[in-house]
Amino acid sequence: MRITAPQWTGAKEKFVDDLFAWLSSAGAAHYDDEQVTQLQHALQTAEIARQAQASEQGIVAALLHDIGHLLIHEPQGTDDLLGRNLQHEEVGAQWLASFFPPEVVEPIRLHVLAKRWLCTVDEAYWHGLSDASKRSLLMQGGRMCGAEIMAFQTHASWGRAVALRQRDDLGKQPGKHAPCLESFRPAVLQVLKA
Ligand SMILES: [Fe+2]
Repeated sequence: MRITAPQWTGAKEKFVDDLFAWLSSAGAAHYDDEQVTQLQHALQTAEIARQAQASEQGIVAALLHDIGHLLIHEPQGTDDLLGRNLQHEEVGAQWLASFFPPEVVEPIRLHVLAKRWLCTVDEAYWHGLSDASKRSLLMQGGRMCGAEIMAFQTHASWGRAVALRQRDDLGKQPGKHAPCLESFRPAVLQVLKA
């Protein structure tokens, strides 16, 4: 039986059970043309946030930042989002906003813009990107113009989005050990909306 995105039933533990079951199942697919699965990428990115002593919100944002990729491949339940041709960061942010606070959701919404910003202000950052990430940059709009840089820096979460993006880039290492999903349960429970 295919496991699909969880629905809110009023119980936090049940929601996390269902969320983790879905991430384990749907996340078994490979992430774009990287050498890791979506789940491995999520776990590596979240562990990097944890080791950097990020806030609980920052750790959960790292864990769930690419959930839009999974939602886009859902057979049902996201038709309203997909019908508007939204990108994965916006699909993920809109879905997550029902369950998590802005400190989790907004860096996720901005993490592709953060990549464009980093590529614009830091040439070394661009050189360090994976080949797949360099290719996707072009489809994401390429480097920013001056007005786009200024607009990005007006977002309250732009700094958190940049930090998330930098962790995102480091979380694609084939064969690297990452802690299990369950180790992130306390952080997810703590930041879930009541
Ligand atoms: Fe990512």
